[in-house]
Amino acid sequence: MSLNIKNNVSWVGKIDWELRKFHGDEYSTHRGSTYNSYLVEEEKTALIDTVWAPFSEEFVENLSSEIDLKKIDYVIANHAEIDHSGALPELMWHIPDTPIYCTSNGVKSLKGHYHQDWNFNIVKTGDRLSLGQKDLIFIEAPMLHWPDSMFCYLTSDNILFSNDAFGQHYASEYMFNDLVNQSELRAECIKYYANILTPFSKLVDKKINEVLSLNLPVDIICTSHGVIWRDNSTQIIEKYLEWANDYKENQITILYDTMWSGTRIMAENIASGVKALNEKVNIKLYNICKSDKNDIITEIFKSKAIVVGSPTINRGILTSVAAILEEIKGLKFKGKKAAAFGCYGWSGESVKIIAKSLEAAGFDIVDEGLKVMWNPDDESIEKCIEYGKKLAENFV
Ligand code: FEO
Repeated sequence: MSLNIKNNVSWVGKIDWELRKFHGDEYSTHRGSTYNSYLVEEEKTALIDTVWAPFSEEFVENLSSEIDLKKIDYVIANHAEIDHSGALPELMWHIPDTPIYCTSNGVKSLKGHYHQDWNFNIVKTGDRLSLGQKDLIFIEAPMLHWPDSMFCYLTSDNILFSNDAFGQHYASEYMFNDLVNQSELRAECIKYYANILTPFSKLVDKKINEVLSLNLPVDIICTSHGVIWRDNSTQIIEKYLEWANDYKENQITILYDTMWSGTRIMAENIASGVKALNEKVNIKLYNICKSDKNDIITEIFKSKAIVVGSPTINRGILTSVAAILEEIKGLKFKGKKAAAFGCYGWSGESVKIIAKSLEAAGFDIVDEGLKVMWNPDDESIEKCIEYGKKLAENFV
């Protein structure tokens, strides 16, 4: 079950082919995931992270077939979230006195999860743990993506164990970045960044520059999810720097929900108007109710502007639109423009509500939006097309 990474470093994790939802039901994982755990067997032996709780028995059993558990000198907990620490209770039952190295927030989080007073050893950035000829250097990485997160770096082999950062929810028996389908890999990387790391982009940029300033050569990046970066490993670091700085492509995403197709017809005609004025822009339309939420968030992340539509219902907006607006608010997108639209029969509040929510979420609202009464007739359709043209000019 183990996979050699380099010299005395092996992967001893779990590939979860079945996973389709993560973080409860919050994150879709169309291609499964992996929980990566690493064994470093030098004069001293260190185990870096474990796996998600449902696989704890399997993990410890497999690990026992690789090494006498009593020979593990150190356990490194780069991050306490249960997908990486979930097998600790099972493991520590076998080796209760083995020291666990983590940040001070890691201790709080591990105690909070498992209510155990294990042999915790708090580390800070720059602290070293000797494994004999090689050292592990610890680098705190708060909010990448939890307050307790940290990286560690193995000298001589030049391996960065980055935990969640640079990962993807992507199950593959290949396990290395150069062996998998590149288009699938890119899609999972950007989805992961968009949905998980976007709110922390400023910190991502700062932390990466801090790590680069340490001048540690990085040959391999061992993440805690998905493939291991061994071919041009720093390509994902460069991508993160790009994504962390108000990333946008020449894309406009129109997202909406509709009751009797009126708002859908508006969406399609607004798109026609945009296209009529700007042939090069990539326009994508999503009915929020019929699309995967995390895929939509990824498309918003790639967009320079979004247009959000809902009909008015009970003086408000459809719940699907309200839900994605709540998600958008938490992600704190920066440097993107937005507009709102929707049809109505009676009171017509939806456009104002959407625009207000997008403005509060940090979007630059370009105008008052477009409201259409009843189902769009020819005149209203023409208004939608003209509105699309206007947006194409405003969304430059
Ligand atoms: Fe993969 Fe934050 O856990």
